[in-house]
Amino acid sequence: MEVLAVRVALYGPPSAGKTSVGRRLAARLGLAFVDTDALIAARTGLSVPALFERDGEAGFRRIEAEVCRQVAGADRQVVALGGGALLDAGTRLALERSAAVVCLQATCDDLLGRLDGTGSRPLLGGPDPRRDLVRLLEARRSHYESFAARIETSGRSIEESAAATAALVARRTLHVRTSACRQEIVLEYGALEGLDAALGDRGFREPHVLVTDENVASALASRLPAAPARIVIPPGEAQKTLASVERLCGQFAHAGLDRRGTLIVVGGGVVGDLAGFCAATFMRGVRWVNVPTTLLAMVDASVGGKTAVNLPGGKNLVGSFHAPTHVVSDPLTLATLPCDEWRSGLAEVIKHAVIADAALFASLEAAAAFGGLPQLAAAIEVKTRIVESDPFEEGERAVLNFGHTIGHALETASDYRLRHGEAVAIGMVGEARLAERIGLAHAGLADRIASVVGRHHLPTTYGGAANELRALMNVDKKKAGTKLRFALPEAIGRVVHGVDVDDGVLAEALATLSE
Ligand SMILES: NC(=O)c1ccc[n+]([C@@H]2O[C@H](COP(=O)([O-])OP(=O)(O)OC[C@H]3O[C@@H](n4cnc5c(N)ncnc54)[C@H](O)[C@@H]3O)[C@@H](O)[C@H]2O)c1
Ligand SMILES: [Zn+2]
Repeated sequence: MEVLAVRVALYGPPSAGKTSVGRRLAARLGLAFVDTDALIAARTGLSVPALFERDGEAGFRRIEAEVCRQVAGADRQVVALGGGALLDAGTRLALERSAAVVCLQATCDDLLGRLDGTGSRPLLGGPDPRRDLVRLLEARRSHYESFAARIETSGRSIEESAAATAALVARRTLHVRTSACRQEIVLEYGALEGLDAALGDRGFREPHVLVTDENVASALASRLPAAPARIVIPPGEAQKTLASVERLCGQFAHAGLDRRGTLIVVGGGVVGDLAGFCAATFMRGVRWVNVPTTLLAMVDASVGGKTAVNLPGGKNLVGSFHAPTHVVSDPLTLATLPCDEWRSGLAEVIKHAVIADAALFASLEAAAAFGGLPQLAAAIEVKTRIVESDPFEEGERAVLNFGHTIGHALETASDYRLRHGEAVAIGMVGEARLAERIGLAHAGLADRIASVVGRHHLPTTYGGAANELRALMNVDKKKAGTKLRFALPEAIGRVVHGVDVDDGVLAEALATLSE
């Protein structure tokens, strides 16, 4: 297994093993090791308890934040962070943009047993360390749980914890291999920074032209590859037009892009769909590389090769199958994604879990956070497998419509105030209810889905009227003949498509979605 070549930051409660596991991990990966407490002591000339004594917790945190931001910029290292260092949102963002942050955890008894009794932990320095620790863990429980990459160190030796951490942050490579398309999908912390070299290694030839949008250009700034021609478009769905295709292709010609060259597309599904369609048609097709920077683009739009722009009469009406042969998914790029965009992508992740991955669903049920490499890989892999079974969307790929038949009607009914992911979230609950009502799924399935949807802060109900939704579904472009056809779950991990549903049953299921 190859491992990443950038940074890992270990976090977690006091005595979780950040220093000891960090040292071992650094040795394993051939990286330097730094401990922020030691850096703070070196900078101030005071031990952590003495600094607490002198400046109070607030004073300590200020210095800790400065030190953390400084280490966030350094290369090839493992950093052990203080147990409260990432309570500050700005520090957390700085670290999550630059390092694979892994939260170590352990049982309360193990944490207590590992305290060295030297009084080096000021927040546990009272007469009853157990009580102090229980209180601290209680207060920070949801904070520690909000990190998607977590390692349990109880019951593991230091060596085993280091090995587990190394496995958690190691690069993964997935493939799509069909007669129509070949994609290599690399999932790796920090991959964007290594993109120039990776493209050279894989024989992507110059000229390179980079397309991105304004938000991504400002969020990722210096991390973008050094293509001589960089085209930055405004953000948003409104860009997916034929006029944009004409403009972009003109810019490609001006930049000297030809059939030997490579288009590098960095951004969400909008930039991917638009620039991907340009790649399909410019000079009858050029190779393109996609760096998806939204969760939705990572788990969905970058896989399978569909590219398209919109017409005034409908979405994605002009398009083609032209896959990026190389996809580079770097989780560090997701740190700047606005919350709403993150949740929108998460709805598609939940959809993938329901369609084909019961283990992924169980992990979403159990965890408050999503986003570790194994989970991302699992969510992407669902799509790669479906694409392989149906490269041209002639059958099986219709299972990906789960939640979308009701979801599209909800988007329209809400006049697009509901985001796509929010509408799909409610749609999945409604369609699961439908599956129960027609006897396809056992009772309780829809509640399980609703509970995961709610746990990840997505809506499960909608304020409007059921009959209005029903009317909108008649004009859904996916209707087949006069009957709507649904992709419905039989169980978690199993979905069937092409299901006809009686009108009355549909009306009942839709009625359950109204608040
Ligand atoms: N081709 C396919 O198979 C496929 C599948 C699903 C969806 N799509 C298409 O994808 C599009 C939606 O994609 P999306 O949800 O990624 O939307 P998007 O591309 O509009 O991105 C969402 C917003 O996040 C910003 N952004 C992107 N990455 C960022 C980052 N790392 N930090 C900060 N801001 C960032 C963007 O500028 C934009 O404002 C739709 O047009 C849809 O039709 C295509
Ligand atoms: Zn969708």
